[in-house]
Amino acid sequence: MKRESFGSRLGFILVSAGCAIGIGNVWKFPYICGAYGGAAFILIYLCFLVILGIPVLVAEFAVGRGSHTSVAKCFDKLAPAGSCWKPLKFIGIIGCYMLMMFYTTVGGWMIYYCVKSLRGDFVGATPEAVTQSFSDMLGNAPTMMLWMVIICLIGFAVCFMGLQNGIEKISKVMMSALLIIMVILAVHSVMMEGAGEGIRFYLIPDFQKIKEAGVGNVVFAALSQSFFTLSIGIGAMLIFGSYLDKSRSLTGEAVSITVLDTFVALTAGFIIIPACFSYGIQPDAGPSLIFITLPNVFQQAFSGVPILAYIFSVMFYVLLAMAALTSTISLHEVVTAYLHEEFNFTRGKAARLVTGGCIFLGILCSLSLGVMKGFTIFGLGIFDLFDFVTAKIMLTLGGLCISIFTGWYLDKKIVWSEITNDGSLKVPVYKLIIFILRYIAPIAISLIFINELGLIKL
Ligand code: PHE
Repeated sequence: MKRESFGSRLGFILVSAGCAIGIGNVWKFPYICGAYGGAAFILIYLCFLVILGIPVLVAEFAVGRGSHTSVAKCFDKLAPAGSCWKPLKFIGIIGCYMLMMFYTTVGGWMIYYCVKSLRGDFVGATPEAVTQSFSDMLGNAPTMMLWMVIICLIGFAVCFMGLQNGIEKISKVMMSALLIIMVILAVHSVMMEGAGEGIRFYLIPDFQKIKEAGVGNVVFAALSQSFFTLSIGIGAMLIFGSYLDKSRSLTGEAVSITVLDTFVALTAGFIIIPACFSYGIQPDAGPSLIFITLPNVFQQAFSGVPILAYIFSVMFYVLLAMAALTSTISLHEVVTAYLHEEFNFTRGKAARLVTGGCIFLGILCSLSLGVMKGFTIFGLGIFDLFDFVTAKIMLTLGGLCISIFTGWYLDKKIVWSEITNDGSLKVPVYKLIIFILRYIAPIAISLIFINELGLIKL
């Protein structure tokens, strides 16, 4: 069976960047940055992106392109006979599935905020009223469930239409529009009265803040956020590698995606952090941060022209919901491809099963923030548990395994041919990537994990 490939180079970058860019950039990054000390956290995060993120992304692409298949089958094809790599696919499949529940819940919030801004709910609202409306939403289980189900169904429809038709067209338009609006809002936030303190918090590293938050916690948060933002560790990017034409340089693509993804995250921070200092909102407010900050930003940015505030806020939430959607689709695609390839289900049947299960577990996830708040496993509600297990454990463990697999076990000829594009990449760059995959990534990730388990203390 011939696999589809991408219509254009821009198409590939935008689709895989569409998978990378999502709520992790616009929702998670600002609040984690706010909670873990601002600029000093960003510095560590950027180091992880460059030193570990890019090489692991290259490794995922290489395994995808080298095997021409998804995470479900790639180890069956590429792992040396008799080795124990095959079960690794379950980190990918289970990781993608669990992440999808948590992701569609937050994606549902984005759609709900589109509707709220369309209804003009935030026009003239005070910062207190904006904050209250987020808590009201968390307490309103039917509303959250409804929007979560809607995002699942849209994801299903797009997945069902196929990769080329669905994702590539949507991503091109959406990503460009999102970037433009974000830059406009960031310029406004930076110029707001009282933004200076926020800009200092965001740009001038204060290592004391890291000590206060706990060095180990900050390093672990930075590592997992850098993997989360690039969508690496659970095979979501691997599948894009499998669709990638042999003429493209994997390293080049990985660098472009990382640059674009980081640009969006840093711009989101420029919108949110100065604004929350200016409105007196705590930057460590957690997951509610963008929901209680952004509606105020829109109102203030276009205070003289309410219609513009209205149009911009509706457009922004629509684009955010679409960014969440493109990532949801790639997660959906991994599990659908698994059922399709492993059990020979038709794509339609596989996609229906994935969506059905996602809706069921996603409902539990939504309820855990309201009515089922008291129900905890290891002290965490279902929403927080899914977030913790996927973002902190599975992505980083998956990244560790993919580094070791590519660095040590994958056929050297395939590694060389894929990573260098049959010799076009400079040898020192190739050697550096292999050195990182063999030594730096396994040692660094293991140490951070051992520290987290409390066996050593940073
Ligand atoms: N990178 C996505 C984001 O930033 C999240 C994601 C992680 C998507 C892993 C797919 C796989 O929102």
